[in-house]
Amino acid sequence: MSLTNLGGDGLQVEAVALNDIAARFGTPCYVYSRLALTAAYVGYRNALHAHGLGDRALICYAVKANSNLAILNLFARLGAGFDIVSGGELARVLAAGGSADKIVFSGVGKSREEMRQALEAGIHCFNVESTSELEQLNEVAGGLNRRAPVSLRVNPDVDARTHPYISTGLKTAKFGVAFDQAFDTYRRAASLPHLAVKGIDCHIGSQLLDPAPAAEAADKVLALVDRLAAAGIVLEHIDLGGGMGIQYRREEPAPATADYLAPMLAKFAGRREKLIFEPGRSLVGNAGLLLTRVQVLKPGEEKHFAVVDAAMNDLMRPALYDAWHDIVPVAKVGAGDTAPGTPMRYEIVGPVCESGDFLGHDRELALKEGDLLAVLSAGAYGMAMASNYNSRPRAAEVMVDGTHAHLIRRRESVAELFAPESVLP
Ligand code: LLP
Repeated sequence: MSLTNLGGDGLQVEAVALNDIAARFGTPCYVYSRLALTAAYVGYRNALHAHGLGDRALICYAVKANSNLAILNLFARLGAGFDIVSGGELARVLAAGGSADKIVFSGVGKSREEMRQALEAGIHCFNVESTSELEQLNEVAGGLNRRAPVSLRVNPDVDARTHPYISTGLKTAKFGVAFDQAFDTYRRAASLPHLAVKGIDCHIGSQLLDPAPAAEAADKVLALVDRLAAAGIVLEHIDLGGGMGIQYRREEPAPATADYLAPMLAKFAGRREKLIFEPGRSLVGNAGLLLTRVQVLKPGEEKHFAVVDAAMNDLMRPALYDAWHDIVPVAKVGAGDTAPGTPMRYEIVGPVCESGDFLGHDRELALKEGDLLAVLSAGAYGMAMASNYNSRPRAAEVMVDGTHAHLIRRRESVAELFAPESVLP
């Protein structure tokens, strides 16, 4: 479903005009749609039901994609579990009303303190990525007189064919236990007294548009599960990670959730294990946009610049991955009392002091100073990766629900930015 539609007052999210949101909450501002978030979650749920897996599957939202409490709370209300990677994310999920027993804890470098917190909270499973981590977790659990539920993240050595920074399933990646060593590592895990071997997991990368690599990884995982069962290590769940890609360019549609998942889900017919997914981007990415205002137009000899009030610190994806986000005007064409700007090809850049600070290259837009722009598909890894670089307070976040716009994170103040700092006595 599309996040925005055109209303009398220009672009709107659900029934609220982005013009009104900018007037009420200022810019830059992230805007999310409750309806679009819900629809994305329901897309997963329906796909699982269609394959008869509704009762034995858990959708664990990958918190890292967007960890705002209101978003976590919305998914918790829909029945989701959560995939976390830190003690901070654990605290957020619990604060947002998520159930500890639906949490899986991923990550290559959990601290002992984080292990302790998660054990005390009573999470569903630790996704363990190395033998050392198994030993450490065994010790920490022993100290608490508990058994830690574990799954091993295996690295299936499958090429996810995505951006190298977000490709995680090759032998050369830091992630997971090498596939050839997985069987022996399971034997080791099963022998440790304070661990309970529960499952297996894999995650080969992010923004995958072709389901074939994920299906290939699932085949490898299932073969290993059967081999382990034959050796007496019977697993209760199989976690296939996240990774489903979304549409970033109008011309490049992403597969529908049901179509992307079908090749994987088909493999579960006749099996008994519970299935877990850890989707992040596909649940929130297309449900959010970044609203920004044109500050300055700088026509040049070689390039024309539109300097907007959002920057790389607000949305890092273009600078970091050379990622594309569609950028569209908020005003209705021909609306308003001033004439529209002349269409030109603009570099859409922020005020940060780096040439890497851009949101989009070479965009054909008719702009005037003061115009509002919406940077689309910014719900995932947008605010979550925002920083205070250049001492810029992070953006406000708003969730639209029908005709209402709720402030779900107020804009930071400058005083808050340096409050934890102190000068020498
Ligand atoms: N599970 C694990 C173990 C992960 O590492 C990730 C993402 C996910 C699940 C969720 O993957 P998703 O469904 O969102 O593809 N900052 C990058 C993306 C980094 C992904 C990191 N891991 C970006 O902006 O494209």
